[in-house]
Amino acid sequence: MCGIVGAIANVDVVPVLLKGLLRLEYRGYDSAGLVVTNHGLQRLRTTGRVAELSKLVAQQNTCGLAGIAHTRWATHGEPSERNAHPHFSGEKSRIAVVHNGIIENHEEIRTHLKNQGYEFTSDTDTEVIAHLIAFKLEQENNLLKAVCLSIAELQGAYAIAVMEETHPERIVVARNGAPLLIGVGKDGNYVASDSSALLQATRDIIYLEEGDVAELHNRDYRIVNCLHNQLGEAVERTVHESYLSNEAIELGPYTHFMQKEIFEQPSAVANTLEMVFNAQSISPNLFGSEAEKVLSGTKHILILACGTSYHAGLVARYWIEAVAGIPCNVDIASEYRYRNPIAHPNTLVIGISQSGETADTLAALNYAKKLNHQHSLAICNVPESALIRQTNLRFLTRAGPEIGVASTKAFTTQLASLLLLTITLAKIHHRLSKDDEYRMIAALRHLPVALQNTLQVESQVKVWAKSFATKRHALFLGRGVHYPIAMEGALKLKEISYIHAEAYAAGELKHGPLALVDSEMPIVAIAPNDQLLSKLKSNLQEVHARGGELYVFADADSQIMESKNLHVIRLAEHTGLLSPILHTIPLQLLAYHVALERGTDVDKPRNLAKAVTVE
Ligand code: G6P
Repeated sequence: MCGIVGAIANVDVVPVLLKGLLRLEYRGYDSAGLVVTNHGLQRLRTTGRVAELSKLVAQQNTCGLAGIAHTRWATHGEPSERNAHPHFSGEKSRIAVVHNGIIENHEEIRTHLKNQGYEFTSDTDTEVIAHLIAFKLEQENNLLKAVCLSIAELQGAYAIAVMEETHPERIVVARNGAPLLIGVGKDGNYVASDSSALLQATRDIIYLEEGDVAELHNRDYRIVNCLHNQLGEAVERTVHESYLSNEAIELGPYTHFMQKEIFEQPSAVANTLEMVFNAQSISPNLFGSEAEKVLSGTKHILILACGTSYHAGLVARYWIEAVAGIPCNVDIASEYRYRNPIAHPNTLVIGISQSGETADTLAALNYAKKLNHQHSLAICNVPESALIRQTNLRFLTRAGPEIGVASTKAFTTQLASLLLLTITLAKIHHRLSKDDEYRMIAALRHLPVALQNTLQVESQVKVWAKSFATKRHALFLGRGVHYPIAMEGALKLKEISYIHAEAYAAGELKHGPLALVDSEMPIVAIAPNDQLLSKLKSNLQEVHARGGELYVFADADSQIMESKNLHVIRLAEHTGLLSPILHTIPLQLLAYHVALERGTDVDKPRNLAKAVTVE
């Protein structure tokens, strides 16, 4: 969602701001803006892309030694120039604010500020912050203190950056619930919501903590924390060196990040599983130092997640119950947090999230804690994320930065991690012999190669994509552990090609969706050679008999033959527990090539955001 970049240096900062915004484009946005200090505050805003903002910069020769910039994903108020950030307050001495997140008590503060004579020119909650800081500045006459006093009144999760017209030598930033980090550079200091925006300037990064407020100058900075003192207490924060490589965040030879990320899956999974490849047995410590104790006492598992990560949780339920023999529930985080669920004793709560920033997932985990669930495990791709800090156990998927909005390598690395967890649980709960454990490690070791081989189906998928591109709807069918894979396939297709796609457990076909089957409705089926294959074949017959056109991803040994209206792409022979991971690949490729055929914006689909940091 929204992105923040700020810079204060002894050279013009506009190029850094624009390049930083370009790096943050992947998060999803619908307007962009910046403000720089150059004989006053100069502001540019647009409802176009960052490229549009760059054109405005060029037309107006905008430059300055300090500035803050923003990409906005509309929450309060439509996407429009007047709602785009930065927002101003004050006449004589203006301040400018950019903001990520949501201010929950903005109505109440707005009423108070209106009574004080402040005029509002936008529909945003951000303008409330700008006026509130201006109001506090009248009392304190010091921007850092004014920000500290303001955040004491704000409720919600947010990150902000603030500049003051009469003090162009500083930028003040604050973090509460939304990520924000400082880049310490040679020529200046920087701030951003994501380290990828700052690699161009520095690799020395400080991850701000909850309640931190920082004042940046071009040569130094200071940080205070406001959790226990409204005016802030000075704190030291460690400077970390970022190891993110430029290749990891650049397209290289690929046309889209989604394409790059699909093809990176063999190495992403290999990196994620690296620590077990040379092992003879699996150590529970992979999930944290307390893991052995916690996992051996676990009698029930609850998985909370959103979107693609939720689908990974659904796959894990089949594995965990079948292999480890532990009951497992999976809930959509935004549903769980507003239900009155019954808490089982000895439950391990697992939060799955690529970004570790998804507001509903974080809130659902908090809620689970309030319901007295003692133990939690994060499966997450971002080491510095809020989710990682919130749980007592953690496992990092090492997929590298995922930039395409439609999740691909994050999903398969989540599945690989969840399979590893399943094996660990089965071992601790005495459901796995030494030989079985050894066999499973060998299977995991084979996974990157198996993924690489599966990617070879691309040329066949491309042919199918041409006929899909003209369709308006599609059905995806799967059974058992492959039903969530069908859900993921349908999600990928709708996200990036805008074709309406739904997934059904194939056994449910005759309870409704069969009514939709005609020659215009393509039906994608996942047909692994598992114990449900014969049942699935009967379901496919039901479709075929009604004139439906079937597109089947079968295992080499599934014995499904091509015929009129029945197209088959064969993967390798059945791979047992690994099968759902491998069957994901052709579905990602299908969505990608259909989107290419339809000419949609593959990496930045309309209305969607990469990290959903608001409810
Ligand atoms: C957004 C993204 C999805 C992602 C979901 C959950 O909707 O577009 O790709 O699956 O958020 O994100 P998370 O970071 O928690 O996995």
